[in-house]
This record gives sequence, structure tokens and C-alpha cells, in this order.
Amino acid sequence: MVYSEKRDRIIADLPAYVDERRIPHVLGVEKEALKIASLLGLDCDRTAYLSFAALLHDITKKWSKDEHLDYLKKHGIEYDGEYALSPKTLHELTGGYYADELYPEVTALSPMITDCISNHTTGSHGDDQLYQRIIFLADFIEETRTFPECTELREYFYSLTKKEKAEDAILHTYLKALETTVSELEESGQHIHKKTLSALCAVKSEIKGNKEMENNEQNEILKAEALAKKIVTILDAHKAGNIKLLKVTEKTVIADYFVICSGSTNTQVRGICDEVEYKLGLENISPVREEGLDTCSWCVQDYSSVILHVFNTETRKYYNLERLWAEAEEVDISSILTED
Ligand SMILES: [Fe+2]
Ligand SMILES: [Fe+2]
Repeated sequence: MVYSEKRDRIIADLPAYVDERRIPHVLGVEKEALKIASLLGLDCDRTAYLSFAALLHDITKKWSKDEHLDYLKKHGIEYDGEYALSPKTLHELTGGYYADELYPEVTALSPMITDCISNHTTGSHGDDQLYQRIIFLADFIEETRTFPECTELREYFYSLTKKEKAEDAILHTYLKALETTVSELEESGQHIHKKTLSALCAVKSEIKGNKEMENNEQNEILKAEALAKKIVTILDAHKAGNIKLLKVTEKTVIADYFVICSGSTNTQVRGICDEVEYKLGLENISPVREEGLDTCSWCVQDYSSVILHVFNTETRKYYNLERLWAEAEEVDISSILTED
């Protein structure tokens, strides 16, 4: 049975399991999840799994607390006592098992499907958390939900997708959704499921970790810029010609900066290279790679984040590195260069 036949069958069955007034919500969650999947550029298999998870997520929502507990007992399913303390979350637990019982040919496609159902009210856990978060969010922000907190979160999410990568927009909106869930439960004096609190901690530390990584990258770039400017100062003092500093961070992974300069003769090219290596060597900075010192028409000193290119005048004209890297940002070094 192809995906569309499986989907058609689930939709045709929905009235047997889901309250009539809840059906638009279920279809809304599917629509929203697919919209988010398209923002992420997910493949057709994963998109189909999200569609199944969305259509089945509230399959036991209309059961009473006793019906949930009876089902779990009858099937010998052991579960966290937290579920009995927050009965509204029980339907995610029984929903996963019941979907598996009703549609084994669907849930067998990927464990992601039941994982998404089983964590859609308490928050993502275990594997495939991105997909679980998509269902969690879609459940919160789908179009038929008109509570102010839902419409606000919906607007927040889609405004973020205009500025950030879809994964980051999901992460930040998911955090807000969990925070909203926790504060609503607190205000109404209801029990907060331990899983929700641990999901909240996990997403907060994930965002913090991402920020630290970004800061580290930023620090590395600042360090690279300081090194590049130091090289420019040495070149300037050694009368290197036509010094240019290009920021190439966004254009290549090989370095953050290129420093380019010329020597009027091969001997001067060699002298410039030796001088830079000597001066930086005094600060325990040495190149990881050097090339071209045999002919000295184009010498390269690679300091990882900064690459220095020293040309003789003719070779520089011939290769015209600045034109090759025309899209790179030229850094203003006029305040570093001496007038002559
Ligand atoms: Fe639900
Ligand atoms: Fe729902």
C-alpha cells in the first residue's frame, strides 16, 4: 500500500476514533506539520511519517482516564506514574500503542511515528527529537487553534523563519511552547509532568550550547582579524606594495582572511615572507604550510585562519586574486597603513 492509500484509510477511519469537532484540528496538525517539513526540505519518507503521526496523534484523546488506565493494564504496559498525576497527558501514551495496534503497517515504517505521538503533549525525548518537536509545535499552532497563546506562537514561529534557519526557528518556538505549557499548568494548579520539565531543561541547554558554539566561532574570527591586521602592519613596515585585506569567512572554509601584497622583485617577495615569519615567530606564531619559496613569484604562508599571499608584481597582475575573490569583503586598513 503506498503512502497516499495508507493516509486515505486513516482519514476515512478518523470519525470512528476522534470526536467530530476534533477532526479539523487533527487535519490542521497534519497541514501545519507538512508546512514545517517543507521549510526544512524533508524528504518524502519523513514527510509521510510526520503526516501519519499528525493524523494519529489524538487517536485516544476522547478516552476517559479510566479507559486509558484499563487499556494500559489490559496490555500489561508499564508506565511512569506521572501520567496518572496529569491525566491530560495519558492520551499520548495510549495513543502510541493504539496507533500501533490499529495500523501496524504504518507504525512499522519508522519508530519516529509512534515517538512523535508518544511525546506530543509532554515534549520531545529520545531519538528523532526534531520530528517530535514538529508535531508538538504543529499541535500548538495549527490554524484552527485560535487561543491567543496559539496565534501568538504561530506568528512568532513564522516571523522567525524569515530571519533564521528553520531548525533554529523550531527550536526557539518549541522552547516558548513548553514555557507556555508549564506556566499554564502552574497557574491552574495542575501537576506538571516530569517529562515536560526535563524537555524544557534539555531545550534550554541545547540553545545555550548553540550560543556558546556561535560565540566561540565569533571569537575565532576576531582572533583571525587581529592576526591579519598584525600581518598587514608587518608588511607595511617592510614596504610591501598594494596591501589588501579580504574577509573570506562566508566564501570559503579554508580561512577567514586573505592578506595580499606585492614585492617588486622575487628577492623582495622572499624578504617579505621571511620578515613576516620572523616577526610572528617572536610571538610563537608559525605557518602551518608554506608554498612557493623555491621560485618566489607567488608565496603563500598559511596561518590556518589567515592566509598570506605575497606576489611579485607581474604574477599578481596575472592571477588577479582580488578579482577571483571579488565577492569577498575588503577590510578597510587605511588606518593601519603608513602614508608612504
Ligand atoms: Fe493531543
Ligand atoms: Fe492535538
